Amino acid sequence: MLAQPTAEEAARQQFVVAFKQALNKGLRSSQAALFDKVVAPAWREQHGRAPETRAEIRAAMQADPAYRSWSSLARASQEQMWIAVGDSVFREAPRLAATAAALDAAPTRRGSLHLDLEFVPPRGVTAVDIHLQTGGYALDLGDGDCSAGALYESGGNLYAFGQGISRNDSKAAHVQRFIAERFPHLKPQRILDMGCSAGSASVPYAEAFPDAEVHAIDVGSGMLRYAHARAEALGAAVHFHQMDVAATRFADQSFDLVVSHNLMHEISAPTRRGMLRESLRLLRPGGVCVHQDIPLRYQGMAEFRKFEMSWDTLNNNEPYWEVYANADLEPELLTAGFAKDCIHVGSLPAREGTLPWFVACAWRPL
Ligand SMILES: C[S@@+](CC[C@H](N)C(=O)[O-])C[C@H]1O[C@@H](n2cnc3c(N)ncnc32)[C@H](O)[C@@H]1O
Repeated sequence: MLAQPTAEEAARQQFVVAFKQALNKGLRSSQAALFDKVVAPAWREQHGRAPETRAEIRAAMQADPAYRSWSSLARASQEQMWIAVGDSVFREAPRLAATAAALDAAPTRRGSLHLDLEFVPPRGVTAVDIHLQTGGYALDLGDGDCSAGALYESGGNLYAFGQGISRNDSKAAHVQRFIAERFPHLKPQRILDMGCSAGSASVPYAEAFPDAEVHAIDVGSGMLRYAHARAEALGAAVHFHQMDVAATRFADQSFDLVVSHNLMHEISAPTRRGMLRESLRLLRPGGVCVHQDIPLRYQGMAEFRKFEMSWDTLNNNEPYWEVYANADLEPELLTAGFAKDCIHVGSLPAREGTLPWFVACAWRPL
């Protein structure tokens, strides 16, 4: 199901990865030194003190030509990424739709796809193309279109500096290790993955728990068609549904494990709270929810680092990035109805060279 780039498209995609590496891994790390050695002293000369608040730090940094150039190039690299991937995906769209239809009709089909023709994707997804993905998460060009999922998977590959997201999803692997260590007796029979996108994290649950029935939900029809076809192509049994994480249509207490991956930083605070309430409603006694995301927590973070992290809100169409960074998830899980001694909020250590991740976990006692 992967969109196959031509040689020329592949070369452009490789350029974008190298460009992003230079900007993010190289130049971005020198910004603190730029601030300390050039920007803060200049501001101090003018104002008699160093810039203190995030707004002051931003104003001071944006006056610096080196920072402005970096910021402009970083935005351009993100736009180039979607253009480079989009060339392959939109050229391949008819083939992807036909392949998806064939996989859905195949006698070997293991999972299922349930689209809701009445479903209206929430404004938080349709009003903005999150991280500039062409057409946004809810893109649907009709006729079995899978472009949203294909863009997400191929773009995600470049976004992760070309490391690929393949069938071994680092986020899901971390969560599964966490579950094995913290809940060794949990043998889930029904698992739900919320906000599944292309299903990269859903498939590893079907593989890790072959006796479980795995369901996955998202709001985007093009995303779900792709996720279903991708799972079938990988031989994984996953049932995909078009539903909102804050208001699913599953029965009370119908899951043993509810997970989400990198979802919280892309939903509004009311949706996040609805998702936590929904997690409790869906869990059977003894069931566990684990909501994993990037370790972006503003509490206790230095103001300069917050300024750095806020770049995505201002320049990369991430309206909920800082909403999530400011969220206090322990009280939110309490408000959702989980008992105080049934909550664990914290980071998962980085392993085997991967990123560290953050989890908000809670469980319904037996
Ligand atoms: C960053 S992606 C999630 C990545 C995915 N879990 C993975 O591991 O690759 C966020 C996804 O959440 C979906 N989404 C956003 N708001 C949602 C909502 N209210 N209900 C269900 N899905 C939602 C988007 O359509 C998008 O596909």
